[in-house]
Amino acid sequence: MNNDDKKKLAAEAAIDHIQIGDVVGVGTGSTANYFIDALAKLKYDIDGAVASSEASAKRLQSHGIRVLDLNSAGQLPIYVDGADEATKQRSLIKGGGGALTREKIVANASDKFICIADDSKLVGALGSFPLPVEVIPMARSSVARQLVKLGGVPELRENFTTDNGNIILDVHNLTINEPIKMELEISAMGGVVTAGIFALRPADVLLLGGDQGLQTI
Ligand code: A5P
Repeated sequence: MNNDDKKKLAAEAAIDHIQIGDVVGVGTGSTANYFIDALAKLKYDIDGAVASSEASAKRLQSHGIRVLDLNSAGQLPIYVDGADEATKQRSLIKGGGGALTREKIVANASDKFICIADDSKLVGALGSFPLPVEVIPMARSSVARQLVKLGGVPELRENFTTDNGNIILDVHNLTINEPIKMELEISAMGGVVTAGIFALRPADVLLLGGDQGLQTI
């Protein structure tokens, strides 16, 4: 099975968690795109979707799925999204696609967070994937210096602006043994909008596609 088939397997399994009448929180990335395509078959059964990026909103609308603003949708029953890394404790690194802030907002506003991925994303400890940190442009150098003090090597994501008009620093070389502690530490730096660690609000369920089929954690 190639990686795309594994992503698709996980994405389609998430459909079983959707109930009639749900407003569904929808993530961003290639795995989330498979989920959106599968969700299109339920478009008359669900009440709509809240998107975590402009790109996902466009894809949902192209399938005729109603896209709602989070402020009018209220608390969501479910959020489905991919990840760049995941541990067995269901802590995640997200933001490879740059949508981490809206993803964290929607995850925090959802009762259940289902993370879908191919099984190559499962790691013993977070940090091999460079940690995305969304930063207000004025704070770029100051936040970078603070990240260096934590042992990281921040690199500006070139030619990239987030949906919120900010920059991303991808932080290499971090060993994230205590994800909650590091999420709090980086989030507290002045000018940081979002750290791409999802540990304070981890996934509730990991659905991983692999050669042996679907693994649920
Ligand atoms: C988007 O900002 C990310 O958080 C994605 O969820 C993550 O990069 C996973 O993307 P893929 O599903 O494309 O691997």
